[in-house]
Amino acid sequence: MKFQKPRGTRDIYGIDLVIYNNIVNILQQCVTKYHYQQFITPIFEDVQLFLRAVGNETDIVQKEIYQFSDKSQRLLALRPEGTAGIVRAVIENKLYQPKKTLKYFYIGSMFRYERPQKGRQREFNQFGIETMGIKSPFIDAEVIMMALEMMQSLDINNLTLHLNYFGSDETKIKYQQALKIQLLKQIDILCFNCANKININPLRILDCKTCGKLKFNIPLLQDFLLETEKTYFTTITNILTNNNIAFEIDQSLVRGLDYYNGLIFEITTLDARIGETQNTLIGGGRYDNLHRDLGSPLVIPAIGFAIGIERLMLLAAQNPLINKNIISSLEIIVLDTDVLAMSSFLLQQLRSNNFHVNGEYNLYQDKHKSQIINKNLAQNVLFLKNKIQAQFYCYQSKKMLTWYFTCKEQLLKQIKNHLLEECL
Ligand code: HAM
Repeated sequence: MKFQKPRGTRDIYGIDLVIYNNIVNILQQCVTKYHYQQFITPIFEDVQLFLRAVGNETDIVQKEIYQFSDKSQRLLALRPEGTAGIVRAVIENKLYQPKKTLKYFYIGSMFRYERPQKGRQREFNQFGIETMGIKSPFIDAEVIMMALEMMQSLDINNLTLHLNYFGSDETKIKYQQALKIQLLKQIDILCFNCANKININPLRILDCKTCGKLKFNIPLLQDFLLETEKTYFTTITNILTNNNIAFEIDQSLVRGLDYYNGLIFEITTLDARIGETQNTLIGGGRYDNLHRDLGSPLVIPAIGFAIGIERLMLLAAQNPLINKNIISSLEIIVLDTDVLAMSSFLLQQLRSNNFHVNGEYNLYQDKHKSQIINKNLAQNVLFLKNKIQAQFYCYQSKKMLTWYFTCKEQLLKQIKNHLLEECL
């Protein structure tokens, strides 16, 4: 029987894994400058956590959640996103104290049963950040600026920052009610999906790819914002403008998760290497009531975002900074059975002296030397010929040196000197 990976998943290895790790390392360095600390939560949680956090009526919960019962009939789900798990963990572990800002980042797989296509998978990886315990337009703007800095550090440019502002839960509810009334009057022009959503999640109709293009007569969200909310949003946009950050205010931006209030944002690309429909690299926003909704005795305002790592991989693959593999300093090739033990000795000694070296125990012949050199396995290659002679090929100088020695210790010293000289 032949097994295949499940649809919408992928194996990451070789150069893709190098790219993945380099991206994650660069992003991690970036958020560490802002004092974010890593957080690891379980890959599966009680299904109710996601129903409450993400929202019963969202596509993620209605259509995409991977739900299962364990052997004790506990109803669990593979996490479709990372925010709910961290909020649950902050409440459960009592991590929040008043006047304390918590700053966490996370990296890991998320699961959504979606139709796979370029940039969209059923198992995908996110790099996310969450800032909890503070509500200020300055932190909102800082979070966005950090997201853009993260993209810049990967040399991903030509991005568009889309902003929208929901206001408080009360404002959002009032707007949804007004929207519902208007949409019901125009139900005939809506697609089948949206017509069914009017009563349960009218906001989602605004970002429907088909209906979004229709000329609706709908109320404007900004007309529902209170003066204090308008001022808050204007302060964010002023901070961004002062920092020369371009943005678009997009009234149809609604996001696919119910926990947002206040600022929501997305960062998209027009790069053709990413499908037009999956061009959102980063999505996030404020969720000031989620802790309370998940059982926190304290109100903990929060904001965060997540980045799709696979989407970044499609964009960053050609960047020489990112697709650079670390190659060993030395590859040892054995040309005679008599020196297998010597190869093993050299490899162990060099590794214990912190040199990055590799060697295999296959035997090669003298005539294979140029083929091996062409493979570019390491920065140098040592061909062990016999107990008194070796040849050392250096890629930098493109020279083959012939070395004679009386004992393995002498050869070891010679290799070390050479590798150390290269490091200078
Ligand atoms: P999201 O917009 O659902 O937000 O996902 C964030 C990012 O994950 C997307 O912009 C996209 O790059 C990537 N992504 C989403 N679905 C897929 C998929 N099926 N395949 C590949 N990549 C995908 C959230 O998940 C929120 N938890 C973000 C957040 C954090 N909001 C506040 N804090």
